[in-house]
Amino acid sequence: MTIILDVRDVYKRFGGIEALKGVSFSVRRGERVGLIGPNGAGKTTLFNIISGIYMPDRGRVIYKGVDITGWPAYRRSRAGIARTFQIVRPLANLTVLNNVIVGALLRTNDIREARERAMEAIDMVGLAGKEDILAKDLNLIEKKRLELARALATQPELLLLDEIAAGLRPREVDDLVYTLLEISKRGITIIMVEHVMRAVMNFAERVIVLHFGEKIAEGTPREVASNKLVIEAYMGTGG
Ligand SMILES: Nc1ncnc2c1ncn2[C@@H]1O[C@H](COP(=O)(O)OP(=O)(O)O)[C@@H](O)[C@H]1O
Ligand SMILES: [Mg+2]
Repeated sequence: MTIILDVRDVYKRFGGIEALKGVSFSVRRGERVGLIGPNGAGKTTLFNIISGIYMPDRGRVIYKGVDITGWPAYRRSRAGIARTFQIVRPLANLTVLNNVIVGALLRTNDIREARERAMEAIDMVGLAGKEDILAKDLNLIEKKRLELARALATQPELLLLDEIAAGLRPREVDDLVYTLLEISKRGITIIMVEHVMRAVMNFAERVIVLHFGEKIAEGTPREVASNKLVIEAYMGTGG
């Protein structure tokens, strides 16, 4: 059992808001983790800290046994940490293929290799045949898949997904979860931040619950769904 990620006592404050108040958890290599919690719980902030967009005020991020707390985002990307964004933002006037090549070029400077990685990633997410379509002409589920392909093209070992199922129909959610399970089978560790419970319950082996910047529960999807603190947290904010 190898630990790929160890988040240790992470704090983050924005002005008067304490977004994270001492969050700790570990993730095993190859694990499928769900990260849930009401709006404003600190989920995206945690992703921003793991991916290097923000530095924590206190605490450490250990990746593959190395303290990466001070590393800039590009260095983490090269080390195998990739993420998708809550608001999908493909380069609208580029084709699917070129969007994904941009992702691949984060990891390699060789354009031929980048193109190969991009084609593999496009295939993995089910967009094969749509390489030449402009990103702006894709529908929502295709845009989500493109976002996923861009992250995969960086050859991640740890993939962070921020609300990738938001706005999708149940059938589309199920299809996307199937794709994510296939990606997981390749050995990629995935942490999924998600409000769509159907996605979390069908995907995650373990769920971590954040509330007001603190971890309030952790367990199997079933355990967490019946946890009193979790139910109260969701009822309290109407989330
Ligand atoms: N860049 C920022 N500047 C100021 N406040 C922020 C910033 N990012 C997040 N916050 C605040 O931190 C808290 C947690 O936000 P966030 O991590 O986005 O929550 P979640 O993703 O769980 O909905 C919220 O109160 C949010 O307004
Ligand atoms: Mg968020």
